[in-house]
Amino acid sequence: MERLKLLMIFGTRPEAIKMCPLALELKRHGAFETRVLLTGQHRELADSVMSAFGVSADYDLALMRPGQTLTSLTTGILDGVGNVLENEFRPDYALVHGDTTTAFASALSCFYHQVKTAHVEAGLRTRDIWAPFPEEANRAMISRIASLHFAPTKGNERNLRDDHITEGVYVTGNTGLDAFRYTIKEDYVFADPALRELDFKKYRTIVLTAHRRENIGAGIEGICRAVKRAAEMRPDIQFVYPMHPNPAVRSTVLPILGGIDRVRLIEPLDVFDMHNLMARSYLCLTDSGGLQEEAPALGLPVIVLRGETERPEAVEAGTVVLAGTDEEKILAETLSLLDDEARYRRMRRAVNPYGDGHASERIAGVFETIMNR
Ligand code: UD1
Ligand code: UDP
Repeated sequence: MERLKLLMIFGTRPEAIKMCPLALELKRHGAFETRVLLTGQHRELADSVMSAFGVSADYDLALMRPGQTLTSLTTGILDGVGNVLENEFRPDYALVHGDTTTAFASALSCFYHQVKTAHVEAGLRTRDIWAPFPEEANRAMISRIASLHFAPTKGNERNLRDDHITEGVYVTGNTGLDAFRYTIKEDYVFADPALRELDFKKYRTIVLTAHRRENIGAGIEGICRAVKRAAEMRPDIQFVYPMHPNPAVRSTVLPILGGIDRVRLIEPLDVFDMHNLMARSYLCLTDSGGLQEEAPALGLPVIVLRGETERPEAVEAGTVVLAGTDEEKILAETLSLLDDEARYRRMRRAVNPYGDGHASERIAGVFETIMNR
């Protein structure tokens, strides 16, 4: 029997972290011919993940440019993916992930070439097309084009149903949690010397990340001012901030947080270091989507630096709280979680609304069923 041809397309760090466990699972499966196309929307961030998981790209569009625009990225991806589909490999299904420009433009290119798309991490919604921007519109547009929808949760399935998408929908869990099976280790030794120097016993460690497009400028400024004040007020805490390489992020962060005691501004961490840092930390402040899924599974309370979230499950479970980007609100929530032990303990309960770490097997199972039909 001929093997089912699958083309996985991704380009940014979070897509790579969530697609590599799936790539390993699909490649292990003798019934599929699986190839990987990197758009190169991210360079060193995505490369670091690929080498951590030992996954290599069959095609690499190498598109990243400093300060790239959504338009230049989109047109580059439409052309580049189209070229691969026309001249190199025409799959039975292309797999895209989530809501990035890579995911949307790749799905559109597949649609133009009449190649079916499978959407991994489908059905997340805020219902506000401006937040997160442009991700909310991207994922909704992918849903219109895709033939298969792998929804992490039942809530995501409901969102798709509300959009009248009911065929080809499977609730699988999030492949992001599959990654823990590779990364988290009890006796882990950090690769980054900056992390090896940290004293986790003397200081309560707070992991901080912020990079969202709609937070660039005023939002990130509010976040940094709150962090500076918290660090100055509490001598028993340390912040660790692996900064996104986007120059528009760093130009706001460095003038406010550079040189502040117990605020460690460091380069992006490889995913093994990042997951194990989270596992050893007290609290997480973030505007990232992926961290909102990972932290609850590790029992790490999260203050979300956004006004809304497409991941309400952990808010409902009580391990994640929304603070937005207002300086006073972030400071108040941070101090509350440092001082109010009962509240902290309630939030620290590990819950895992996003899956059991076996989403990749479920997705492989769906393709197997399709093949055997
Ligand atoms: C992108 C995604 C966002 C995702 C985020 C994860 C879109 C529109 N945005 O946002 O959904 O949450 O990735 O991190 O798809 N850069 C580097 N090296 C890298 C990566 C980025 O130098 O490895 C710099 C470049 O100057 C680049 C800039 O960061 O131009 C912005 O990258 P881009 O992918 O356009 O946006 P992100 O904010 O990373
Ligand atoms: N991450 C990482 N190193 C870092 C910061 C984040 O490996 O220095 C991981 C994090 O654990 C999560 C993912 O990157 O798996 C989140 O990516 P990002 O915040 O860039 O994007 P988002 O999730 O917001 O789309």
